[in-house]
Amino acid sequence: MDKHLFADNILNWYAKNKRDLPWRHTNNPYLIWLSEVILQQTRVKQGLPYYEKFVETYPTVKDLAEADEQSVLRLWQGLGYYSRARNLHAAAKFVHEELEGKFPEDYQELLKMKGVGKYTASAIASFAYNEKVAVVDGNVFRVLARVFGIATDIASHKGAKEFEVLANSLLPDQQADEYNQGIMEFGALQCTPQKPNCMYCPMQSGCVAFQQGKQKELPVKIKKLKIKNRYFHYLIFEYQKNGEVFLGMKERTAKDIWSGLYDFWLEEKPALQTTEALLGENGWDDKLTSKWVIGKQSVAYKHILTHQRIQATFHHIEIPAEQAGTEFFSDLHFFKPDEIVDLPKPVLIDNYLNKNFF
Ligand code: ADE
Repeated sequence: MDKHLFADNILNWYAKNKRDLPWRHTNNPYLIWLSEVILQQTRVKQGLPYYEKFVETYPTVKDLAEADEQSVLRLWQGLGYYSRARNLHAAAKFVHEELEGKFPEDYQELLKMKGVGKYTASAIASFAYNEKVAVVDGNVFRVLARVFGIATDIASHKGAKEFEVLANSLLPDQQADEYNQGIMEFGALQCTPQKPNCMYCPMQSGCVAFQQGKQKELPVKIKKLKIKNRYFHYLIFEYQKNGEVFLGMKERTAKDIWSGLYDFWLEEKPALQTTEALLGENGWDDKLTSKWVIGKQSVAYKHILTHQRIQATFHHIEIPAEQAGTEFFSDLHFFKPDEIVDLPKPVLIDNYLNKNFF
C-alpha cells in the first residue's frame, strides 16, 4: 500500500472511531507519561481508574517526586511489575531534583528517564510535543505486519529494527500525535489479534494479510519464554496481646518479584507440603517451636505471572507474644490488621488477607 494512503487511512479512521480518553485531552507530558506507564501494564478499561487515582493523588511531577515510595507502590497495587512503579517514582525525583522540575522536551532527553524506553519516549514526544517519531508497540507490529505482509519475527532484533524503520517511514510530516494515537487505536479496536474487523476496514483493498487470508499468521512471534513453577509456603506467624491480633509481615527486598511489597514469612520449596513437614525440614530450635500452635493450612492458591506460575499455601502458626521480639523473628514486623490495610502488598496476599482477616 502507498505510504500516504496508509497514513490518510489511519488519520481518517481515527477521527471517526477514537475513544474519548482523559489523556487524549492534554499536552501535559507528565500526565501522558503516567498514562503510558500504566497502559503498558494493563488494558484501557482496567487502567483508567489507576490513571485517575494517580492524577488525583499526584497532580504534578513534584507531588509524585515528594511522595514516599511505599505510597506509590500502594497506589500501583494490582497492576503488577512493581519495578515499573519504582522507576516511575525514581524518574519523577530525577525530573524534580536534577532537572529542576522541567520535564524533558524531546525523544532523546526522555530516554534518559528511568524506565522510559523507546516506546514510551516516542509516545510522550509525539503526544505532548508533536515530535516526528513513530511509536512501535504490539498494536503497531500487528497492523504493519498484516497490511504490508511482513513475516519477520517481531521478537527478534532484526524484526524490531525492520518494523521501526518502516513505522518511521510511514509517519506523516504533520500530525505525528494523531497518527501515532491512531495506529495504536486501529490495532486495539479494528485490527485486533483475534477476529479483526476486515469486513469494514479502510485498508481492505491494500492489505496483504486480507488479500492472502493470512490474518491469523501475522504477525509472527516466536516464543522463547519458559514458564517457571514456584511453590510458596507462607508462614503466617500471629500472636494475641490485650485481645488484639498481630500478624508478622516481611518487606521483600531481594531482587525478585514484588520487591518493596509486604508478604509473610516465606519458605520456597521444590513442591507443596504440609505445615508439619515444612517445620520438620527446617530444624528450628525446639525451645521456640514447642510453644507454637499449628493452625489452619490453606488450600493451594494459583497465581500466574508472565514468566512464573506460583502455587502458594498459607500456614497459620500462633506464637507466644514474647517470642515476637526475639532475634528469630527480627525480619518480621508485627502489625494489627488495620495497619496492614495501608501496606503495599502483592494481590495474592491482599486477597488472602481480605478473605481471612478483614
Ligand atoms: N495503549 C497505550 N497507550 C495508549 C493510549 N495513549 N491510548 C490508548 N491505549 C493505549
